[in-house]
Amino acid sequence: MTENDFLPGAYQEFPLSGKVTWRAPSNIALVKYWGKKPIQIPANPSVSFTLDTCATTTSVTFAKKEGNTDFSFDLLFEGKPKEDFKPKILTFFERILPYLPFLKAYHFDIDTSNSFPHSSGIASSASGMAALSLCLMDIEKQLDPTMDSVTFNRKASHLARLGSGSACRSIDGSLVEWGMHRNVPQSSDLYGTEYPFTVDSVFKSYQDTILLVHKGEKQVSSTVGHQLMKGHPYAENRFQQAIQNLDRLKPILASGDLDGFIQLVESEALTLHAMMMTSMPYFILMKPDTLEIINKIWRYRQETKVPVCFTLDAGANVHMLYPKNFKDNVQRFMDDALVMHCENGQYIQDRVGKGAVKIND
Ligand code: PMV
Repeated sequence: MTENDFLPGAYQEFPLSGKVTWRAPSNIALVKYWGKKPIQIPANPSVSFTLDTCATTTSVTFAKKEGNTDFSFDLLFEGKPKEDFKPKILTFFERILPYLPFLKAYHFDIDTSNSFPHSSGIASSASGMAALSLCLMDIEKQLDPTMDSVTFNRKASHLARLGSGSACRSIDGSLVEWGMHRNVPQSSDLYGTEYPFTVDSVFKSYQDTILLVHKGEKQVSSTVGHQLMKGHPYAENRFQQAIQNLDRLKPILASGDLDGFIQLVESEALTLHAMMMTSMPYFILMKPDTLEIINKIWRYRQETKVPVCFTLDAGANVHMLYPKNFKDNVQRFMDDALVMHCENGQYIQDRVGKGAVKIND
């Protein structure tokens, strides 16, 4: 598929008004996306677990308006007007207008809220852009009822990508691949697709405990982070490594090889941070507590043989990944040794999820 395949045909009747609501989850990458080309084309392929508990629910109420030369929308975040989100939505609308030409024909009231605590340091852009894209696609489906579900999801993912790259992996579940890879059928730089290979059942109920080490604003926005990969001395090797790691992951996921999984996932997380430590300017995004947690996970794994590992986003929080049947062990480990490293003792108990869902009001 090319971008042109997402341009709509002629719409049938325009509804005068309506309301749609979608809940889209966050995701956590196993092989990381870091570095991009315009517009939101990944420099390397990536794959993520779709999450379940961490999600954004967005309602869009739409009403046909006079004239169609300007965008018109209001935004509520957690029930309150949020002016500082509006420029991001406006840029998003401008970018996706060719694919959704009805956007200027309506006034939209966007009402959005997150399941995770306010300013928890958990990026809400992935789930937020995915939920908004799904609402807009739902409106388009009312204008073009013939659209099938594969096209619907692909286009929603394509739109979400234009809002925030990794958001394209927040439509489907439970493992989503994004970025062209010659050994991954259906893979595309334009949208995420469900991981097409066999995945052992252990990974379908994997747990993710997110330790909130630092809840403030991220020190480096992902926009700046991606830019740092331009002219980065190790960029080319890193992009090749990500391609190879996707190949390596295939037998690991198929066979339920937990040791192989741990090694690959932890190496990916540390490589992402190594890229930031070796860029110009350079950044250390881990906090002392991040390192304490990593060391404790390593010691605990060695002593107990519980197959728990960590991964990181571009920040200080730690995602602790493990099979469901070790949930009680990890909870005790959490209470005894890790909760003290979380800001205000906060953490989120999440797990692999099945993707976004429509909410019927
Ligand atoms: O989608 P962005 O532009 O916020 O980039 C996210 C990049 C990482 O979260 C660090 C890795 C990934 O693949 O999700």
